[in-house]
Amino acid sequence: MEQKPIGIIGAMASEVAALLAAMKEEKAEELAGLVFHSGALEGVPCVVVECGPGKVNAAVCAQTMLLRYSPRLVINVGVAGGVGSQVHIGDLVVAAACVQYDFDTTAMGDPLGTLFIRRGAESEDILLLPCCEEAAAVLLEEARSIYGGAHFGVICTGDAFVADPEKGRFLDETFQAQAVEMEGAAIAQACYMNGVPCAVLRAISDGANDGSPVDFPAFTRMAAEKTSRLLRAAVGRL
Ligand code: ADE
Repeated sequence: MEQKPIGIIGAMASEVAALLAAMKEEKAEELAGLVFHSGALEGVPCVVVECGPGKVNAAVCAQTMLLRYSPRLVINVGVAGGVGSQVHIGDLVVAAACVQYDFDTTAMGDPLGTLFIRRGAESEDILLLPCCEEAAAVLLEEARSIYGGAHFGVICTGDAFVADPEKGRFLDETFQAQAVEMEGAAIAQACYMNGVPCAVLRAISDGANDGSPVDFPAFTRMAAEKTSRLLRAAVGRL
């Protein structure tokens, strides 16, 4: 039987460009306006797609991918703002879990980021969306051998580009976050609802602070190339 593919989702063209260039493409198919590129990356069947920025783009993309291609693992790659004093531009962050920090029913007494997920007749409350431990371990191991290491922790997702050190501090204090971006937890939620493992791999393009409007365009290419190189090295073991 043909092996199920690994799904790879990046928000921006720059986040998937090096992977698409390295992939032996067999087919491109447009669904919901998104172009899904199927083929082999380092000999491993993969589907690669650019979803566009933000949680809704990411969730629509992930759900479409899950239904159409039945990936055995979905990986979200790209850049992120660094959170906390230990995370610097150029560093890699592998998610242990993801949080939608802007999902807010605190007025009703719920902790910030708590989601309500249908389970048939039941509803489940969940704050930390889990990521695949085995995939994270492989990514961390490859990061160690190529770049000397990566951070492993919570990645925060919301529909905002964060360029405010106060917000970064808040995400650090509230969620012990290491990075902030705009898609990871939406993809993790879609995967969780479908029972498919997911991983989120990000490289830091900026500090989610006053410097971000300048740093993000300056460092995105370097950061995206780091995640692409790492993923190419790891994909055979995922
Ligand atoms: N992606 C890269 N940098 C980011 C930031 N500062 N905020 C949100 N998403 C990002």
